[in-house]
Amino acid sequence: SAEELDARIIAAKAALGDRAVVLGHFYQRDEVIKYADFVGDSFQLANAAKSKPDAEAIIFCGVHFMAETADMLSGPDQKVILPNLAAGCSMADMADIASVEACWAQLEEVYGPMDAVDAEGKVPVIPVTYMNSSAALKGFCGEHGGIVCTSSNAKTVLEWAFQRGQRVLFFPDQHLGRNTAKAMGVPLEQMPMWSPRKPLGGNDPESLEQARVILWHGFCSVHKRFSVAQIDKARAEFPGVRVIVHPECPMPVVDAADEAGSTDYIVKAIQAAPAGSTFAIGTEINLVNRLAAEYPEHTIFCLDPVICPCSTMYRIHPGYLAWVLEALLEGEVQNQITVPEQVTVPARIALERMLAAKP
Ligand code: 13P
Ligand code: SF4
Repeated sequence: SAEELDARIIAAKAALGDRAVVLGHFYQRDEVIKYADFVGDSFQLANAAKSKPDAEAIIFCGVHFMAETADMLSGPDQKVILPNLAAGCSMADMADIASVEACWAQLEEVYGPMDAVDAEGKVPVIPVTYMNSSAALKGFCGEHGGIVCTSSNAKTVLEWAFQRGQRVLFFPDQHLGRNTAKAMGVPLEQMPMWSPRKPLGGNDPESLEQARVILWHGFCSVHKRFSVAQIDKARAEFPGVRVIVHPECPMPVVDAADEAGSTDYIVKAIQAAPAGSTFAIGTEINLVNRLAAEYPEHTIFCLDPVICPCSTMYRIHPGYLAWVLEALLEGEVQNQITVPEQVTVPARIALERMLAAKP
């Protein structure tokens, strides 16, 4: 029962003390979040993983790419545990290292050697990977003068990249790439989309020549389902409603919203609002429902409560949390996430650049 599980988790956590730290992403269900020692967005959790050097184990209640990142940023003897190994991310799976390397090789045919600098000292392309990607892609970015971004610091990261390169290859999330670049004034014609199925992404060399941001074809299956019609409906029913969506939403949705921002941005916006505010939020339902419960002085609802749970985030059930904690007490490390050293070394370069790029 839920009560038994609660008792087991509480007992195991108490017995482990500082040996284990539990990190929880904002999208985790309440039954898990209540045991997190630290709750945050992707950027904050990466920092948290780096700043708990005394914990023997970091229990990451989130998805696989976050646990990989925690492993790469934590100390060499620390163990990162993902309570359910099936907690992946469909967006991260949309870019694999072989496809990214094939794309890079084709871009090299168009732009010439990737390490050649122009009169301004800029290389042809800087690779930027969204945090929501495999460790191998982060390693690729570290090896090729690139960087990782999260949804909270994507703009700062793109500015960093444009200082060093004529253009950016942004993967895997087309929407975050497009929305961020558009907000920075990059015209849509200068954002061709890459498709690994077609040579040169199906783009003619001329459009690639003027490209500033080459987008990958990935998307978040949760956020892509929000629509402008939902925003119109919210505005009709709640005049004065403040609509905030995550930048993983498609561009028309971000354009129709009042604001777009990472999960932490959404949390802070609600915290700072005067009592009696009304919010329509376009992001994962567990976070929206929790905010609605935590801030009863506001009216907070999800643009569509039916379609938007993240099924993989939801795979972290408290039963798995109890299991990995109890195993640790027995001296067993279950579901450890380990990134090979040859990937970690370059990926850490790209991750450290990301951590230096403030939200
Ligand atoms: P943030 O935590 O950066 O807002 O990202 C949301 C997300 O989709 C994580 O998978
Ligand atoms: Fe991946 Fe989307 Fe779930 Fe985030 S919300 S973990 S991007 S599927």
